[in-house]
Amino acid sequence: MSTFEPLVFSGVQPTGNLHLGNYLGAVRRWVALQENNNCIYCVVDQHAITQAVSVWGGPAELQRNTREVTAAFLAAGIDAEKHIVFNQSRVRQHAELAWVFNCIARMGWLNRMTQFKDKAGKDRENASVGLFAYPNLMAADILVYRATHVPVGEDQKQHLELTRDIAQKFNTDFSDRIAELGLGIETQSGDETIQSFFPLTEPVIGGPAARVMSLRDGTKKMSKSDPSDLSRINLTDDEDTISKKIRKAKTDSEPLPSDIEGLNDRPEADNLVGIYAALTDTDKAGVIRDFGGQQFSVFKPALADLAVAKLAPIASEMRRLSADTAYIDSVLKNGGERAAILAEKTMRNVRDIVGFLQD
Ligand code: TYM
Repeated sequence: MSTFEPLVFSGVQPTGNLHLGNYLGAVRRWVALQENNNCIYCVVDQHAITQAVSVWGGPAELQRNTREVTAAFLAAGIDAEKHIVFNQSRVRQHAELAWVFNCIARMGWLNRMTQFKDKAGKDRENASVGLFAYPNLMAADILVYRATHVPVGEDQKQHLELTRDIAQKFNTDFSDRIAELGLGIETQSGDETIQSFFPLTEPVIGGPAARVMSLRDGTKKMSKSDPSDLSRINLTDDEDTISKKIRKAKTDSEPLPSDIEGLNDRPEADNLVGIYAALTDTDKAGVIRDFGGQQFSVFKPALADLAVAKLAPIASEMRRLSADTAYIDSVLKNGGERAAILAEKTMRNVRDIVGFLQD
């Protein structure tokens, strides 16, 4: 019995600056996964246009952000030669498969997506259809490569569950056809054995920074859209700005606890300890072993020095790379060509499975 080839896929939207949450929750972990896996890392520009133009900034801004996010991937240590780095819109098969998935996913499934509810806010009638259907395109991003593992932050968990539901329903709806064409891999679905064409992708979520919180409010996620720049560390921030933001980070007045249970109900302390742990590739317990009982007046300068040491070199490499647009564009073009070959292979099969005539 064959199994699905292990393959890692993930993406980041080119909407504004990348921040520490994107880096620790996603990109830094992608770098680690490159060692032992084939990886595809995507700048998901089609996802970036789902809100009003005034929100995403228009064409020039989108192009600038797409290049900047690519520069961030490379500066963080993604190897675009061994692996694939490209912008989503170059590979038309993502949108093509998303249409098929629009016809597989049910309204009820998408109605449950909390990110849509958050982003659409009260004025749902005025949200774009794209914002609503966005998780189907995300499923297509992943499944057009039949990717088996997707490293993301915790906020993407629900979208990955939906991706599995879509894969499952496609496999079930077309199981006879998949078997007839000999395109299936035998998998267990409850008590039944079915011929699967798509894998049930595993989310790779975890570590001490799966959900990095705002530096101003430990109960809110660090996000690009927070109006306060002090709430986040941007990957483009210089050394002084990084230090200042950590010094000003909201905390309570207690010293750090002597065991990790003591972080419960102390969201700001928990967040800063998690950031320290992720930047040193340890866990929160390890940080508490070193800093338990210490005041923030000791811990914050140590965290600021660590963050500067880890992030400032990335920021300066990003600035250097961002200035070289010809190089960035050549990386995306080359990655796009390699990705399109893989995506077209899947789509030829999908067209046959669904019944679309092709040459
Ligand atoms: P996006 O662009 O909002 O975020 C990119 C990655 O950063 C993670 N992240 C965080 N992790 C920890 N703490 C935070 N505060 C934080 N904020 C963001 C996100 O979880 C994500 O991993 N829908 C996706 C992009 C996407 C995608 C895909 C991802 C499109 N297609 C296919 C994986 C596979 C998004 O909007 O991520």
